[in-house]
Amino acid sequence: MALKVLVVGGAGYIGSHMVKRLGQLGCTVTTLDNLSAGHRDAVLCGELVQGDIADRPLLDALFARGQFDAVMHFASFIQVGESVKEPAKYYDNNVTNTLILLDAMRAAGVQRFIFSSTAATFGEPQYVPIDEAHPQQPINPYGRTKFMVEQVLRDYEVAYGLQSVVLRYFNAAGADPEGQLGERHEPETHLIPLVLQAASGRRSHINVFGRDYDTPDGTCIRDYIHIQDLCEAHWLAIQSLLAGKGSQAYNLGNGSGFSVQEVIDTARAITGQPILVVDGPRRAGDPARLVADATQARERLGWQPQYADLATIVRHAWHWEQKVAARR
Ligand SMILES: NC(=O)c1ccc[n+]([C@@H]2O[C@H](COP(=O)([O-])OP(=O)(O)OC[C@H]3O[C@@H](n4cnc5c(N)ncnc54)[C@H](O)[C@@H]3O)[C@@H](O)[C@H]2O)c1
Repeated sequence: MALKVLVVGGAGYIGSHMVKRLGQLGCTVTTLDNLSAGHRDAVLCGELVQGDIADRPLLDALFARGQFDAVMHFASFIQVGESVKEPAKYYDNNVTNTLILLDAMRAAGVQRFIFSSTAATFGEPQYVPIDEAHPQQPINPYGRTKFMVEQVLRDYEVAYGLQSVVLRYFNAAGADPEGQLGERHEPETHLIPLVLQAASGRRSHINVFGRDYDTPDGTCIRDYIHIQDLCEAHWLAIQSLLAGKGSQAYNLGNGSGFSVQEVIDTARAITGQPILVVDGPRRAGDPARLVADATQARERLGWQPQYADLATIVRHAWHWEQKVAARR
């Protein structure tokens, strides 16, 4: 179906994979990104408009060009630690600027919205795997900004009829299976790219924070979802809105967690590199296990992850890391 989609934050890690996928699906894609963390050369199809979602006249001009079938919103600041030190920066960009975007959509009559939320909205898990009924009690400003937007979306649906799908990712990981795109956060805070940077020599070692958790090997367990599977879920989310299924919220993960040590062991096996590990104390606010129950996404969206095994995720990410390391 040839849809017209606005991808906000489409030059970033997840957004750029989405833009490529939408292009493959025959959509007309416009990316809006201020390039604060994104990369111009990561936008592989459609038009890139360099600008900020805080720029209401720019948004109005974009929406005046023709009706978008949907808006996908990936643009936010994403570092939990930084959000604790600089909460204003996070509330400003992730909440205030999102309200500006939503108001511009409302003025233009654009009624479908896909929102990137996060496992961080749940806070310390009361049980795992975490389903959609789990209480949302975020424990840091980053998680709170996302939870606030989720609440705004519920109110906007009731009052203005805005139809949204909230997708709460656990850990997005991996890279474009065709090798054109991958993760390029600066600074990088995610485990798999950090481990692979230690394998490629871009980093001297990988820190492991805590080996005394109540898990089989003592290290934290996280749920990694392949970027391509994540993109498929977004596409299904648009389809469900077009089919009139109304606003929804889904947790997205593989449902099987892997420990930090398992990730390191898998990376050692795939890269053939020893990967130096430095053990340190636990970090505040790191739960022992964060694993998604994605049954709802499977049943209601028909989502079926294709790349659920850790080895494939690490292999695709390693392919990308080798490309990046060779360019330096
Ligand atoms: N990466 C993960 O594992 C993960 C997990 C859960 C949720 N998320 C969410 O997914 C979304 C995308 O994450 P990512 O890893 O691709 O991050 P990213 O930093 O790579 O991408 C975000 C993009 O948004 C742009 N941007 C930020 N503020 C903007 C603004 N005001 N106007 C225009 N563009 C702006 C940045 O330049 C960047 O290109 C974020 O909302 C994040 O909170 C990511």
